[in-house]
Amino acid sequence: MDQTENNLKNPYPVKPLVIVFSYHHGNTEKIAKAIAGVLGADVKTPEQVCPEDLREYDLIGFGSGIYSATFGPPILSLSDRLSYAAGKKAFLFSTYGAPDCIANREFIEKNHYEMREKLHLKGYAVIGEFGCAGWNTNSFLKYFGGLNKGRPNAEDLRNAEAFAREMMEKARE
Ligand SMILES: Cc1cc2nc3c(=O)[nH]c(=O)nc-3n(C[C@H](O)[C@H](O)[C@H](O)COP(=O)(O)O)c2cc1C
Repeated sequence: MDQTENNLKNPYPVKPLVIVFSYHHGNTEKIAKAIAGVLGADVKTPEQVCPEDLREYDLIGFGSGIYSATFGPPILSLSDRLSYAAGKKAFLFSTYGAPDCIANREFIEKNHYEMREKLHLKGYAVIGEFGCAGWNTNSFLKYFGGLNKGRPNAEDLRNAEAFAREMMEKARE
């Protein structure tokens, strides 16, 4: 659904944006595109975002691969430069390289902690968080073909789309 269709169908149009930092294998970018497809949102990198421009959006997704148990430096630094948002709705999403047996909800939320805190400080209301596995060939893992090969997979993308629908519903509340 594109933005025009989204707005025509809905009495309370929501203008969404998805911002993603994804450098290892483009894993998180795949999730960003799946989410943006449902929302009818543009996808931008942190470098493409001017903090003042975010004023025009009602719902902003911030996504990153997980590097050393947190979001990547460019998106963390973008959050430091944001203007005060007075309750604007945001959501977080990430892909991690840990095996699924370790990566429960608590693990995902811990990885999001720093970014969530920064957004709270800037007055954002974080209304949802999504995480899934991503192919990881960091360090010695490259000698063994890496962990989570093939992830995110079709099921991960479907889950991301379902999450995006949930975020759109919550944004309209
Ligand atoms: C330098 C580096 C550090 C990483 N640190 C972690 C980590 O702390 N925890 C984790 O679960 N995965 C870690 N990973 C794996 C990535 O989170 C995973 O591969 C992710 O899907 C990468 O997303 P991207 O392709 O969008 O960059 C790391 C990967 C790299 C390259």
